[in-house]
Amino acid sequence: MSDIPTHLNLQGQSFLKESDYTQEDLNRLIDMAIDLKQQKQDGEPHNYLQNKNIALIFEKSSTRTRAAFTVAANDLGANVEYLNKNDLQLGQKESIRDTALVLGRLFDGIAYRGFAHTNVETLAKYGGIPVWNGLTNEWHPTQSLADFMTIKEHFNTLEDLTVTYLGDGRNNVARSLMIAAAILGVNIRICAPTALQPDTETIELARQFAEQHDSEVSIMTDPHSAVKQADVLYTDVLVSMGEEEHFEERLDMLQAYQVNDELLQATGKNDTIFLHCLPAFHNTETTYGQEIAQKYGIEEMEVTDQVFYSDSSKVFDQAENRLHTIKAVILATMG
Ligand code: CP
Ligand code: NVA
Repeated sequence: MSDIPTHLNLQGQSFLKESDYTQEDLNRLIDMAIDLKQQKQDGEPHNYLQNKNIALIFEKSSTRTRAAFTVAANDLGANVEYLNKNDLQLGQKESIRDTALVLGRLFDGIAYRGFAHTNVETLAKYGGIPVWNGLTNEWHPTQSLADFMTIKEHFNTLEDLTVTYLGDGRNNVARSLMIAAAILGVNIRICAPTALQPDTETIELARQFAEQHDSEVSIMTDPHSAVKQADVLYTDVLVSMGEEEHFEERLDMLQAYQVNDELLQATGKNDTIFLHCLPAFHNTETTYGQEIAQKYGIEEMEVTDQVFYSDSSKVFDQAENRLHTIKAVILATMG
């Protein structure tokens, strides 16, 4: 087993949102994830966290985040306990504060996916152990770390790059991507209809980081202008978990923002990559996709099947990198 690759000391800290971290911290977490990926590929054991216990509290569904936390913990030698909303009293018969006070006595770390961001903050405040945000309504920081790891692996750098996000610009993924980009010095364009643009406070925060790190934050409405010379096109679902009732109005507002081959060509570059946090709705191979096709006659939503499975698409590298980045976060904060 090689030396623990923690070249940064975040021991005991929680990972709740990108703006709590510096550019150096985020870059080092990304580099640590790249090291850990190599160690795993080489079959080099890295079970530095034996006898540690991690709770995974998930109030919303998940494939990648849950699986990535589980495999990351197992690779590090730690045990995990998965607790979904039906297993816990959380917020119903026991406050989040009391739950944190109890779980903090039993576990060494908690991953939380849920609704209001204040819930994860309360867990972190009273748990006394590192708490990792596995997605809240407001932020998805373990996602943005994997996004920029994927971008760095692909382009070998994060310098002089432009990322264009198209779609619901107010959601967790867009907000996290925007703030992480600004901290990392990557130009970010959020392209969305006016009603779905990020709130002014978050835009202002992103602009402050961008000023410090010599990058640009642009909020745009026209997809064709927004993708010009972009290195990365990124999109997410039309409606996030918990917002399903808004589907019809979103479809109306976001159809023009679909990432399709024509938009990919409109970048004017031949090496633009496509990213998506997943799950994505790009065909009718899901019951959800079939229901939408029957009801609205639409078979592809935020991205076409062609772009999704094209050589430009790096979505499965990005999904794999959830594992390595989450492992780096666990190790750096709990190691
Ligand atoms: N991208 C992401 O968070 O995926 P899951 O919802 O499957 O965890
Ligand atoms: N914005 C999406 C991301 C899913 C990973 C949601 O919150 O449902």
